[in-house]
Amino acid sequence: MTMTYRRLYNELKEKANTLGKEESAVKIIILETTGFTLSELIMNFDSPTPAGTREKIIKNFSAYAEKNIPVQYIFGFAHFYGLRLKVNESVLIPRPETEILVDIALDRLRGYDNPAILDLCCGSGAIALALKKNLPASNIAAVDISPAALKTAAENARDYNLEISFILSDLFAEVTGKYDAIVSNPPYLAGEHEAEPIVRDNEPPGALYAPDQGLRFYSRIFDEARGYLKKAGIIILEIPANKKNEIMALAAKSGLAGRATVEKDLSDRDRVMIIKTD
Ligand SMILES: C[S@@+](CC[C@H](N)C(=O)[O-])C[C@H]1O[C@@H](n2cnc3c(N)ncnc32)[C@H](O)[C@@H]1O
Repeated sequence: MTMTYRRLYNELKEKANTLGKEESAVKIIILETTGFTLSELIMNFDSPTPAGTREKIIKNFSAYAEKNIPVQYIFGFAHFYGLRLKVNESVLIPRPETEILVDIALDRLRGYDNPAILDLCCGSGAIALALKKNLPASNIAAVDISPAALKTAAENARDYNLEISFILSDLFAEVTGKYDAIVSNPPYLAGEHEAEPIVRDNEPPGALYAPDQGLRFYSRIFDEARGYLKKAGIIILEIPANKKNEIMALAAKSGLAGRATVEKDLSDRDRVMIIKTD
């Protein structure tokens, strides 16, 4: 029987189900391997899959389903806030739930002429790039401790022609100046027990785990942020949904809790903490 795209798609979908993997990954794998758009795939659904293409699709599928490698690392990019960003094993794959942090930051900074924004722990540059793209008049500095992550972020900024200052720094250590907003999605897992196997086995540990039960970056940011914020500043942080109370307590310890609010993500989980410091 001819191996049409339809047949290959259905066979791989069934295999994904048997292996307990995401069915939706099969479509991504076929589209990315072939270079087809979705409508091109639909048009070609009952055409034979050329042998070389079939082999590549099966190889990529097995990297995902059997070797447990995220599709974003297989193809080298991830989608975030309408951007297609380069990713590799030195950066966290930007997550859809982080987009809400960008929404909130854009909303809060709408009234500013040219806000100065500091993105701590920038990874692929996802947050910084999404903000700069939507607030072209902003001045954005993005920090990471990993030279390889910063290199990837700088490539992403170059690809989109977005001007961002990248700073190799342990949080605030090399940062100068004052900002209207500090945004961050820092590492916040307490350890491997809190990570899904596909995350634990592929993403950089330095992007995932933090000391003090995952809370160290929050206490460090709360302790130091005031020195880097203008008078009426704002801190916007992604938080792990199950540690909201502990993080509120840390903010209180640094004298910030009275001004802290938390917003939920689309799954109704506490996701973003917002602290005004004026
Ligand atoms: C959870 S990832 C977030 C990446 C990106 N902001 C995003 O949302 O996709 C955390 C990032 O923090 C960086 N990082 C870890 N420790 C750091 C430190 N002490 N100072 C600055 N960056 C750090 C890691 O290299 C990693 O890129």
